[in-house]
Amino acid sequence: MNNFTVNFPSGKTDILFGNYFEQLNLSAKSRRIIIVCDQLVNKLYPKISEKNTIISIEALESEKTMDTAGFIYNKLIELKADRSTLLIAIGGGIVCDITGFVAATFYRGMPVILIPTTLLAMADAAIGGKNGMNVGFHKNLTGTIRQPEVIIIDTSFLKTLPIEEFRNGIAEIIKHAVISGDKLFSLLENNSELKSGTISKEILKIAMQVKIDIVLADEQETGLRRILNFGHTFGHIIELSEGMRHGEAVCIGMAMAAKLSERLNKCNQTTTERLLKLLNYYQLPSTSLLDINVITRQLVYDKKKYGNDLYFVFLEGIGKVVAERISHHKLEHVLLNIFHD
Ligand SMILES: NC(=O)c1ccc[n+]([C@@H]2O[C@H](COP(=O)([O-])OP(=O)(O)OC[C@H]3O[C@@H](n4cnc5c(N)ncnc54)[C@H](O)[C@@H]3O)[C@@H](O)[C@H]2O)c1
Repeated sequence: MNNFTVNFPSGKTDILFGNYFEQLNLSAKSRRIIIVCDQLVNKLYPKISEKNTIISIEALESEKTMDTAGFIYNKLIELKADRSTLLIAIGGGIVCDITGFVAATFYRGMPVILIPTTLLAMADAAIGGKNGMNVGFHKNLTGTIRQPEVIIIDTSFLKTLPIEEFRNGIAEIIKHAVISGDKLFSLLENNSELKSGTISKEILKIAMQVKIDIVLADEQETGLRRILNFGHTFGHIIELSEGMRHGEAVCIGMAMAAKLSERLNKCNQTTTERLLKLLNYYQLPSTSLLDINVITRQLVYDKKKYGNDLYFVFLEGIGKVVAERISHHKLEHVLLNIFHD
């Protein structure tokens, strides 16, 4: 895949492909670097810590908090980092989010390069500059939007990714397909190569481009960018309450959003069934064991909430979603109606 540059409104990001080590050497331009690395990835790829300063963290949702940010700030102080020090994230979405947040806040901003090592982070989390941090049991309630200087996509990391984690990445690619027209969705249907754990350059590139185009149009999420939250309103609650992988929880959230949209006559049954069939094809979940009352109670903490309303992303057809305000009361009523049947 060819390298390219994206000129986001708040800053440019170079997106580079190939061997992460070579690309990093070229991008670092002899600046001092400090790597924040997923502990497991560091074990699998010991070359990362050769001659490099590493801050190692565990990739757990429970660690994506201000405590971990504080731990990294203190390490940076100990290491006498300064504003010109280049912070590098090597890991999945959790490490990319935490490192991006630290880089945005420490010294009020340090340069950062993201090297995503999971499919989910390559296709989604590393792109767009958002860095969400959890507060207790509430997902991504704090965070920043600040573009990384460079994102390095080295798909050879995917060789060690367990198949469940690979599927977790397919989940966000499905989300990108559902919100962006029929082309990507059709490419995903009956794709035995992807199902068996290999992603083609074509699909990865299209999935990345969907996110890039949306962020280019609305970097600060005042409108269009909200559609990237398709499946996330319920997904985030399920993810933390059930301790489920992010992508898997988003799948359940997408299935619930589709059923809700259908009940409100925003989409037809064929659309919902086509989505459920695709999730099933990749062995991704579409139902939750969580009590629906737990979900409705948690909705008041959604960060897309405005007074008594919240922005919810409805499905209108494959490739077409819309973010609309709905009252919390109405959402709760329809949810209980569908899922208590
Ligand atoms: N900022 C955004 O725009 C955005 C978008 C989507 C998701 N996210 C966030 O991303 C997070 C989920 O990211 P994720 O699914 O990458 O999870 P993750 O970072 O927890 O990684 C998943 C697992 O894979 C392991 N792993 C990582 N790379 C590996 C490799 N190459 N080989 C073997 N194992 C490897 C990790 O140690 C971990 O156990 C969530 O916190 C979610 O909120 C952020």
